[in-house]
Amino acid sequence: MSRYDYIIVGSGIAGLYTALLAKELGSVLVITKGSIDDCNTKHAQGGIAASVGKNDSADLHFQDTIAAGNGLSDEEAVRILVNEAPDRITDLVNLKVPFDTLEGSIALTIEAAHSVPRVLHAGGDATGEHIEVTLSKQAHLSKIQILEDCLATEIMIEKEAVKGIKTLDYRTASIDEFSCRFLILATGGAGQLFKFNTNSDVVTGDGVVLAFNTGAEIVDMEFFQFHPTALRLPGVTPFLISEAVRGEGGILRNVNGHRFMPDYTPEADLAPRDVVARSILYEMKKTGSDRVFIDATHLPPHITTTRFPHIYRFCLDHGLNITKGLIPVAPAAHYMIGGIKTDNWGETNIAGLFAVGETASTGVHGANRLASNSLIEALVFGRRIIEKTRERAKGKAPAASLGTEVHHSLSQRQVPKVIPTLNLSALQQLLWDKVGILRDQQNLTKAADTLAAWQKSLVPPTDRPSYELNNLVLTGRLVTEAALLRKESHGAHFRSDFPQSSPQWQHHIMFTR
Ligand code: SIN
Repeated sequence: MSRYDYIIVGSGIAGLYTALLAKELGSVLVITKGSIDDCNTKHAQGGIAASVGKNDSADLHFQDTIAAGNGLSDEEAVRILVNEAPDRITDLVNLKVPFDTLEGSIALTIEAAHSVPRVLHAGGDATGEHIEVTLSKQAHLSKIQILEDCLATEIMIEKEAVKGIKTLDYRTASIDEFSCRFLILATGGAGQLFKFNTNSDVVTGDGVVLAFNTGAEIVDMEFFQFHPTALRLPGVTPFLISEAVRGEGGILRNVNGHRFMPDYTPEADLAPRDVVARSILYEMKKTGSDRVFIDATHLPPHITTTRFPHIYRFCLDHGLNITKGLIPVAPAAHYMIGGIKTDNWGETNIAGLFAVGETASTGVHGANRLASNSLIEALVFGRRIIEKTRERAKGKAPAASLGTEVHHSLSQRQVPKVIPTLNLSALQQLLWDKVGILRDQQNLTKAADTLAAWQKSLVPPTDRPSYELNNLVLTGRLVTEAALLRKESHGAHFRSDFPQSSPQWQHHIMFTR
């Protein structure tokens, strides 16, 4: 069995940045399900948040993140994020990420719920792609070993600590085992749970399932962030229309041309994401339409084409010139706020098992993630993982933080009279219809019963599609059961049968096997 100091599963920003740091300390293997650049990072448009602007400060970034998190963020984790963010941006600059500049300084934009412009971007709306390409180039230059087209299938444990990982190379069907001192899960979220989503096809809850099956704690799964504006064109996969389009002056209009956001909230088009997403749903219902529109036609055309070249080109390729016509949009699942519970050093409750990026729950995002806080979170906590493992090598580990969690295990469920046939589109439709932006007891219960029945019917997976489907069923159960338990509305989790927040629910829902 080959042995490494670090094995990292996933090759987005979290996996590759952490791998580059780990390489300084020991041997590193990166295992990735597709090719190195198949990840959600590549799809990130808006940018990466850090208080590097003249009128900004770590305190302001802290306040905005805490306000977005709606009382459920871990203040210590947020303090770490905002304090360390500017240095992590310097790391990216040193690695040669080509951030956009304006008159010689880094250009900053504003997104919903940020009190000042704080969002750095690259290539206009291609921030994630530039970061990903830069990091993968560096990973190749550093000669980090990368195993592509390889599924991590099971974490190996010995004496209650991580021993290594089992893998399946799905092109050759070869099953292998690798041992390591530190295993870092950086597998991204689970956007493929939902029929409409802005995520890469590879994002199927893999890390959450690996960790859960090993006994790790999974927390805050009811908080799934829906982006208000994904392109809605018949036959076209939803494509993110960055919040930055509204940040630069784009306006939401209904099918009758009415600017509706000021009817719902004084923050109008730049209200927090959950508020905008729900307002859009109400407006679609009111007007009997399956979409609303972003109007960017009043912006100077050269601003639209240079600031949003990807969006402009994608829409043009689908017959829509956004400098002249309205952009049809509707909400879509975007970001898994919950995930594998970690302490402030990225470690889980299992010795030697770490998680970073979207698959991790550091406590930063609380009940709702502030836009563009996720790429920076991956860097800040990725570095902290490496610091902690370096300390451990010296025999001194920093203390773990403790949160307020209520523990649950997945409940037994009634078998529904009719169980729909399980396949990816049936699962995505079920989650979209019953566990989406507006939730209630009846729909959640139906979804929970169906998912439990599906889980019982699963046979051991043998290839990539069957592993992914199994992972989505379990991740879907964790999201649905948590949403059923939280009988209140809070941040990204909205229950139409409990529309208010309740002080009884100022705690986190945590699942263990
Ligand atoms: C966007 O560009 O609107 C997405 C940014 C994010 O989700 O952080």
